[in-house]
Amino acid sequence: MKSPHGIQRKLQQRKQNNSLRSLSVTAEGIDFYSNDYLGFAKSKTIYTEAIQLLKQKNLEVNSATGSRLISGNTNFHEEVEAQIANFHQAETALLFNSGYDANVGFFSSVPQRGDVVFYDELIHASIRDGLQMSLAKTYKFKHNNLKELQRKVDKLTTSGDIFIVTESVFSMDGDTPELEKLANFCTRKNIFLIVDEAHALGVFGEKGEGIIQQQNLQDKVFARIMTFGKGLGAHGAAILGSSQLKEFLVNFARSFIYTTAISPHAVATISSAYQALENSSAKEKLKQNIQYFQQQVEKFQLASKFIKSESAIQSCLIPGNEQVKTIAESLQQQEFMVKPILSPTVPVGEERLRFCLHSYNSQEEIFKVLQLLATFVSK
Ligand SMILES: Cc1ncc(COP(=O)(O)O)c(C=O)c1O
Repeated sequence: MKSPHGIQRKLQQRKQNNSLRSLSVTAEGIDFYSNDYLGFAKSKTIYTEAIQLLKQKNLEVNSATGSRLISGNTNFHEEVEAQIANFHQAETALLFNSGYDANVGFFSSVPQRGDVVFYDELIHASIRDGLQMSLAKTYKFKHNNLKELQRKVDKLTTSGDIFIVTESVFSMDGDTPELEKLANFCTRKNIFLIVDEAHALGVFGEKGEGIIQQQNLQDKVFARIMTFGKGLGAHGAAILGSSQLKEFLVNFARSFIYTTAISPHAVATISSAYQALENSSAKEKLKQNIQYFQQQVEKFQLASKFIKSESAIQSCLIPGNEQVKTIAESLQQQEFMVKPILSPTVPVGEERLRFCLHSYNSQEEIFKVLQLLATFVSK
């Protein structure tokens, strides 16, 4: 059937810009691209414990069968929310089907008409999408630039509430804002701070609690977003915050209300994955790999190309969609699964190879992929 003109035009534009996205089936190779930082997605222990848990709870079912507000809520959902809140030293946790849903639900409902939201220019698409649905005024600030943010806040006159949203590990850059300074600024100014910890969960903190707890800032943050599809190797997300925030979200967050509840099976996997964090050595192995990767980047004189990051995300800037795609293909031909991140996902000129590191990458794999990269990248 013929397509509408808009569809044809936009696809044509993407082709011209060399930025057309397409699906490819996950290939065999050395994993430098998945978000499974700790290998939990493939953990047989987590898998079998989740099944056991479902049996114990008499929840051997395939679906939640309805919204949490209709038929989809179980004691188990509530127990696991309490487990998550306890792990994160938060008053409450509210589960969502995904981090995307959590952010859209939060940002479309919490900031109201008359309120103001400041967001980092590199904030995740799910937060931007939520903000687009909000009636609040929104302003972006330069990436991790606290000084500029403070200037903008100081200039503002409003009788509404002010919110600031950032990520503790940025998904495309892997870097971290000055969270302590930011949290103290927000406390001084009565600003509500929201931090998306998608890429910090499982990676930072004594047991992988995230950077907010690592820096003991949990009481200065209004809400934290934890997503389970990355370090936890599961599905879903939770918003951490006060009981009143939870009550509000249950009443007003449309992506929580008008959707089938997260399945008991996903909830069991989340619960087992949190249990696994309690005594897993994977976090330590990941940390060693991050350090080794950084050392080798120096050794191959690639440091000027990489965005400074202490996280599992290490990005090498290679401007131009065509160039970054070509280098990624060369690495993939040698079985190194590294994804090029193209504009418009990142700004034009900041296209990059995004290396995701894992507990299960060997030092030999890291050495070899960087050795190969060095042959393609001019220093
Ligand atoms: C910072 C950030 N927040 C939220 C999300 C969305 O999480 P999910 O994959 O669970 O929808 C992502 C994932 O891409 C992310 O990187």
